[in-house]
Amino acid sequence: MIENTFAVSEFRLGWFSDVIVSALPDPTASMSILDIGCGVGDQIFDLAERLPAASFVGVDIVHANIEAAERRRLTSSAASRVTFVEENYRTYTATHPFDLAFSYSVLQFLPDGVDALADRLSADVRPGGTFVNVMARRCGYNTGLAVVRRLLTTVRSAASDRVLLAIARLLHGGMLTSAQLSERIPYAYATMLQWEEDLASRMERCRWVTTSHGPIAHASLAQMKHALRVMHHLDAPDSGHGISLDRGDGATFI
Ligand SMILES: C[S@@+](CC[C@H](N)C(=O)[O-])C[C@H]1O[C@@H](n2cnc3c(N)ncnc32)[C@H](O)[C@@H]1O
Repeated sequence: MIENTFAVSEFRLGWFSDVIVSALPDPTASMSILDIGCGVGDQIFDLAERLPAASFVGVDIVHANIEAAERRRLTSSAASRVTFVEENYRTYTATHPFDLAFSYSVLQFLPDGVDALADRLSADVRPGGTFVNVMARRCGYNTGLAVVRRLLTTVRSAASDRVLLAIARLLHGGMLTSAQLSERIPYAYATMLQWEEDLASRMERCRWVTTSHGPIAHASLAQMKHALRVMHHLDAPDSGHGISLDRGDGATFI
């Protein structure tokens, strides 16, 4: 179980907020937004500035994340529009369906399988709503890296953590702070339980359509390759909402 905080790197915070805002039909409208696996809430605080009529719920399983997020919320000008919940998303019960849910590099770690996850997302996002997901994708690189991670898990120790951190500093010391690199070390051992494509195809079988999809830039050799997908929850079996069903496969978003 990972227990440390996780802060978003500056270089992708604005990019992902742009993606989310551009997936909204009207960014000035009142709406409710869920962040699944919100870490310390960085993405929510960035979005709260851009979406002044939106309210946000961030759910994260790690106490240290929610504690840090809540501390920041108390001094934020968006405090009344933001709620953080310390909970496993697998057991989280939303008080209302959201207009939009998003998640960045979280759902590959959830052990329930794509059927349960798709059902949960279908209940948590209202018909007509949107889901923006970044998640590890199925490819040869990731399959190989998953094997390496499994091997690393068998030798994990304080010494192996130190070696990984030293390598990370050499490779990415210019991009991320020392604290951010340390936060990412436990994920070098994390097991991948499902891939993005499997979740999406399961959702497409229960009234979701993909409106854009493509790989995103790979920031580190130790990181799984991820894909971004924007999905729309149909509100009637034959409803196309006038949205483009072009999957955009192969598009590069950053
Ligand atoms: C790789 S970090 C990504 C954090 C953040 N989404 C971001 O954009 O950087 C994964 C996050 O998912 C959270 N997480 C993992 N499993 C979870 C679960 N079952 N329920 C809720 N949060 C979870 C972790 O605590 C961590 O904050």
